Amino acid sequence: MSLAVESRGVTVRVPGKINLELVVGPLREDSYHELATIYHAVGIYDYVTAIEAESWSVEVTGATAEGVPANGTNLALKAAKMLARRFGVEGAVALSIDKNIPVAGGMAGGSADAAAALVACEALWELQLTRDELEPIAAKLGSDVPFLLHGGTAIGSGRGERLAPVLARGELHWVLWVSPEAGLSTPQVYAECDRLREAAGIEVGDPTPSGALVAALRTMHPGEVGAALRNDLQEAAISLRPVLSEVLEAGTTLGAQGAIVSGSGPTVVFLVGTQAEAIDLSVGLAARGPAGDIRRATGPVAGAQVIQSVSPT
Ligand code: C5P
Repeated sequence: MSLAVESRGVTVRVPGKINLELVVGPLREDSYHELATIYHAVGIYDYVTAIEAESWSVEVTGATAEGVPANGTNLALKAAKMLARRFGVEGAVALSIDKNIPVAGGMAGGSADAAAALVACEALWELQLTRDELEPIAAKLGSDVPFLLHGGTAIGSGRGERLAPVLARGELHWVLWVSPEAGLSTPQVYAECDRLREAAGIEVGDPTPSGALVAALRTMHPGEVGAALRNDLQEAAISLRPVLSEVLEAGTTLGAQGAIVSGSGPTVVFLVGTQAEAIDLSVGLAARGPAGDIRRATGPVAGAQVIQSVSPT
């Protein structure tokens, strides 16, 4: 049995990302930093539904909806409008976002919703575009948006928007510590990274990804991947949110094979070997770590995918 609907609608599921490696190069003239990063999509999802409508709108619900703007500044709504302008679509859409990805958490939640809106509207308007053809619009919306169109594990360069696939076989098990406080502002974390480098007299050259991590990803051996995790923004995130060093230490003491701040933080991710170890670490962290929301996820997972498409009946 299906419910009668009056308008066409498409629902897209999109994951969050973590950075297995984030090498931050110099500040560019356009105020972005040159990066070498390895993105990894993990199974924590937002759901974005686009329904044909007379006027543009967005509503946000779900576990992490608080603080997400439900107006024209919402990145998913900007994405839908940009796609319509670019391809001469006359209609509008009502977007609804069911949020589970932490907000301002270093997991690209806003970028994920933008990628999902592009995929949903592309399907709704039957534009027949490939993911690669959506990429230029995605890159205009934000550095991480192109990656969320594809998902998986990929090398990002430039400001993160230029992608190359990574050969990665198998699955990694992650435990996430999500901050109970408000998130961190990405520009502030990058600025703090620059400040700390300047104070220490550190000058950086062109960023390159490490061979060790790329090699470890071929086998997905958790010990090797864990040892090769690197995030140049971690020190800056800790400087702005000192509790993060306690979180990292708590997970490491409890046996995690790798521990790292995700992107610009404040989400912290721990790598373990199996699902059973993930459950043990979650229980340990909840009992003994600093207060936070503890979640589990595996990666890599696919990027934005249409999961439902309905037409008037
Ligand atoms: O591209 P996006 O809008 O997601 O970036 C948000 C902010 O993060 C930028 O305005 C910039 O301050 C910082 N950023 C950066 N270098 C990058 C990516 C982001 O400095 N490569």
